[in-house]
Amino acid sequence: MSGDTRRLHLNAFLMTPGHHDAAWRHPQSQPHRATDVTYFQELARTAERGLLDSIFFADGLAIWHRIGGNVSGGLEPLTLLSAIAVVTEHIGLISTASTTFNEPFHLARKFASLDHISGGRAGWNIVTSGSEEEAANFNLDEHLEHGLRYERAAEFVEVTNKLWDSWADDAVVLDRTAGVYADTAKVRRIEHVGRHFKVRGPLNVQRIPQGRPLLVQAGSSEDGKEFAARYAEAIFTAQQTLSDGQAFYKDVKTRAERYGRRPVNLKILPGICPIIGSTEAEARRLEDELTGLQVIDYGLAQLSSMLNTDLSGYPLDGPLPDVLPTEDDVNGNKSRFTLVSELARRDRLTIRQIIARLGGGRGHRVFAGTPEQIADQLEEWFREGAADGFNVMPPILPTGLEDFVDHVVPILQRRGLFRTEYTGRTLREHYGLDRPERV
Ligand SMILES: Cc1cc2nc3c(=O)[nH]c(=O)nc-3n(C[C@H](O)[C@H](O)[C@H](O)COP(=O)(O)O)c2cc1C
Repeated sequence: MSGDTRRLHLNAFLMTPGHHDAAWRHPQSQPHRATDVTYFQELARTAERGLLDSIFFADGLAIWHRIGGNVSGGLEPLTLLSAIAVVTEHIGLISTASTTFNEPFHLARKFASLDHISGGRAGWNIVTSGSEEEAANFNLDEHLEHGLRYERAAEFVEVTNKLWDSWADDAVVLDRTAGVYADTAKVRRIEHVGRHFKVRGPLNVQRIPQGRPLLVQAGSSEDGKEFAARYAEAIFTAQQTLSDGQAFYKDVKTRAERYGRRPVNLKILPGICPIIGSTEAEARRLEDELTGLQVIDYGLAQLSSMLNTDLSGYPLDGPLPDVLPTEDDVNGNKSRFTLVSELARRDRLTIRQIIARLGGGRGHRVFAGTPEQIADQLEEWFREGAADGFNVMPPILPTGLEDFVDHVVPILQRRGLFRTEYTGRTLREHYGLDRPERV
């Protein structure tokens, strides 16, 4: 293990205005900069100033139809991360890319390029894509079935791993005198033939600094957990309570062991949307202010989509309908469906209250408090076996990230829970993960 002394790992999940669905209406946010590369470069530098492990951009391959009620669209994340790579030195650069709507050769090549450009800081959040709207942009009338999407994802990663391994570290000889650029014995075809893909290889990018990019995963259905246990090195997840976090942590680590992996090589990062105030009352005021700015129609459409149910005819101050689909009926995001329906039932929330609860983190945990209280929460989850670190989802950007870096990080450092300098250069080194052997 390269230097992991059981310290927290922190990833900053960046979205243009911040994670609260009303952030774009708040004067502290900068929604006009959705396509401004310098905005994201500034955010990345802030995260790097806080010595965070990585930044992350989510991605989807369609624009959501409620385009009027929140910032929509923006820059393609791998292109954006390349522009961020050249103005940063340490921070890891993670992007979502879909295994359902890409070919393995394309993605292996793009992540290999990002790893070279950044000197070993690329990470891939592997998603199978949850929405029907994405299918409609790729020649399909219906979305591929959930189980089949994960089956394709597994073979996809087998192929990308083979492609990244197709060049040996010392394949490039560069002997100008003898006229030999590469040792052809050290660059091999992969000759992959499977159910979903037929790929000859080798990759047309030289061996990358990290060997392979860091593999991240974010689906928590049965299929999702099984996939993560087998392939992922970090997991983004949404858990609302400590006991749910502990159960998920134990479950996935045990599954990883079944695949012959060391549990420590799989880092679990639950999401948290920290609403920070210098007093608890100030934090709550900010939370209330954001709730007051929510566009209810937008929240209702988002909730309808998460629950796979059109809620537009139901009273906002009443409960959810008695009959909802079950997780089995959902072909999109299964785990989020279950999380939201359980949250509503457990806390007996009205539709309006659920919309308010989901405003901050779309189902991720929201916690409003002082930097000290937020550090306490992170420490508790970390020490009690629910997390190896966190996916930090600031409610408003850039201020929420600046407050986290300037006020929460120093507390974690004083408690010995977080690094006080970068000790490695690559994303794998930040997460305490070894460079994979070439297979
Ligand atoms: C923190 C986090 C980030 C995610 N980012 C993306 C994303 O960028 N694109 C995407 O299509 N799905 C994203 N997802 C959704 C998951 O990849 C997955 O599709 C979803 O959790 C449903 O998986 P499941 O059906 O296995 O539960 C994200 C999930 C989480 C928890």
